[in-house]
Amino acid sequence: MRIDKVIEMQLQTSRKEMKRLFAKGLVCVNGQMIRNQAFNVDSHLHQLTVNGQLIEWYERYWLVNKPAGYVTANHDKVAPTIFDLFDPKDFSEGLYAVGRLDRDTEGLVLVTSNGPLGFQLLHPTKKVEKIYQVRVNARLTSDDVRAFATGIVFHGGVQCQPAKLVLQVCHEKESWALVSLSEGKFHQVKKMFLACGKKVTFLKRIAFGPLKLRGLPVGGYRPLASAELEQLRPFIEGGRSNATVSSAIV
Ligand code: URA
Repeated sequence: MRIDKVIEMQLQTSRKEMKRLFAKGLVCVNGQMIRNQAFNVDSHLHQLTVNGQLIEWYERYWLVNKPAGYVTANHDKVAPTIFDLFDPKDFSEGLYAVGRLDRDTEGLVLVTSNGPLGFQLLHPTKKVEKIYQVRVNARLTSDDVRAFATGIVFHGGVQCQPAKLVLQVCHEKESWALVSLSEGKFHQVKKMFLACGKKVTFLKRIAFGPLKLRGLPVGGYRPLASAELEQLRPFIEGGRSNATVSSAIV
């Protein structure tokens, strides 16, 4: 959350009082004075003090292994949502999913209360890598690998950026592969294979930036480990508002 909001909320200050604290140089992050009131602060990563007093604000982070059949949304009229997987004790208002998987897609979804983080991870200029395990209904060949590396053009003309296709098992009527992309167009993986004349019959996201599913069972979820949060630090601190902030920490 923005550092100015955290101070107003936790110290119950007026906006004017909060601004005065900044103006007097009394607000510090990790021991250094900070001027930028828009800094995205999280006590998992930052020690925030105001006039020497420790102020805490913890965002929440969950890694979910979405089963097929669930929608990536907070509410849905017909289908269960990823939030139905949560034990009520782990659910809290303000949680949202960073990006969406199709209803029939399985795999990794990051759920967090940290709004600016989602914006950063999904921003096209950040080119965050996503890796998918894919099964298609035909034999994949080195021609497909080359087409992905060159940049697939969807039926309809939309051009994709180059992507990596790694073939795993290739049979006449079924192939398995890994696809690695750094963009996030609607139904992107399915449309890329369609452009090669193949239909995706199974799709699972196994990695999103530094986050990996590893042994998390389908339908399970877990809090992010502190090492994973540390790997997300550039995205938490890397927003435009924080770019000026880093230099504003003096
Ligand atoms: N690409 C797709 O086609 N579907 C997804 O759910 C994710 C990526």
